[in-house]
Amino acid sequence: MTNFPTAITTHCTESPEEAAGFIQHGMIAAFPTETVYGLGASVFDSAAVQAIFDAKERPADNPLIAHIHSMDQIKQLASEIPPIAQQLINQFFPGPLTVILKRAANIPDVVTAGLETIAIRMPAHPIAQKFLQACADPVVAPSANRSGRPSPTTWQDVYADMKGRIPCILKAGASEVGLESTVVDCTSDIPQLLRTGGIPIESLRAVAPDIILATKPQNGVAKSPGMKYRHYAPNAQVHIATELETIPTGPHFGFIGLQSHVYPEQMGLHMQCTDVQHYANQLFSFFRRCDRAGVQHIYCQAVDKAGLGLALMDRIEKAADIR
Ligand code: TXA
Ligand code: MG
Repeated sequence: MTNFPTAITTHCTESPEEAAGFIQHGMIAAFPTETVYGLGASVFDSAAVQAIFDAKERPADNPLIAHIHSMDQIKQLASEIPPIAQQLINQFFPGPLTVILKRAANIPDVVTAGLETIAIRMPAHPIAQKFLQACADPVVAPSANRSGRPSPTTWQDVYADMKGRIPCILKAGASEVGLESTVVDCTSDIPQLLRTGGIPIESLRAVAPDIILATKPQNGVAKSPGMKYRHYAPNAQVHIATELETIPTGPHFGFIGLQSHVYPEQMGLHMQCTDVQHYANQLFSFFRRCDRAGVQHIYCQAVDKAGLGLALMDRIEKAADIR
């Protein structure tokens, strides 16, 4: 843990223009997207970008995603757009897809953690778009949680992690997807999926049939630096449940899944989701609710690793620290 300097006042607003004013004055601000809330700074402002790393206590070797509101902005960030990247962009921007391209020369090193590439995404959330338009320059943003914690899907979650550490939060409703964007490296001939997320690999295959899923990092060397860190972890211990009958009951145990626990009323917290989308949407906020309720063990029902289920199981496995 680094020593975080003096506490600052965290101003919460519903005005995208007001929040954008912070970015334009060299400060950082959290904002909603359809995946999770992000913590933004202007891409060309190295000092502000560094402030994101400080506020999150994020390792310096983990690069950030640049968020855009118009296709024209890609030229400010990337030196070339290969045809396959262009096809993915045409199909999935705006939305929960991030593409990795070769970076433009003038991007500060702090953004890309010294890599020759840059991650780019265009959120579909209407308030995010208004905010990004008002910021003018592209805005780099990691998820707006303290490093290692579950990503925030509500402004209240951002406030809980970041109060006194950031000057502004742009308030809106809960994120629709609830898991982060899918990250695809488009810098080699065959695109590589580096992080599963809001766009399932099956949908990407319709445009890029050759796409491959990056294997998990060997000896700490990861193509996407973020893949090597522990992620999404609540304070409670996370368990993956396949046999619902064997899950213990009591106030210190939580359960989330597609089915109901055998004795739902005996669990500290219990959530039966209607489908995989709903489960994905609720996972991170359930983790945070369990922490607030003093739940010590969270049992997550396993789902098929198909569609959004692949990203959902990735987050659950990382939270359970088994990957
Ligand atoms: O949905 C999202 O993507 C959210 C919202 C706020 O847009 N953002 C987000 O950012 O999840 P973050 O920083 O929590 O995750 C970004 C991921 C990390 O795994 C990072 O290592 C990877 O993208 N990444 C960023 N730039 C990269 C690059 N140039 N090459 C490879 N991986 C990169
Ligand atoms: Mg994150």
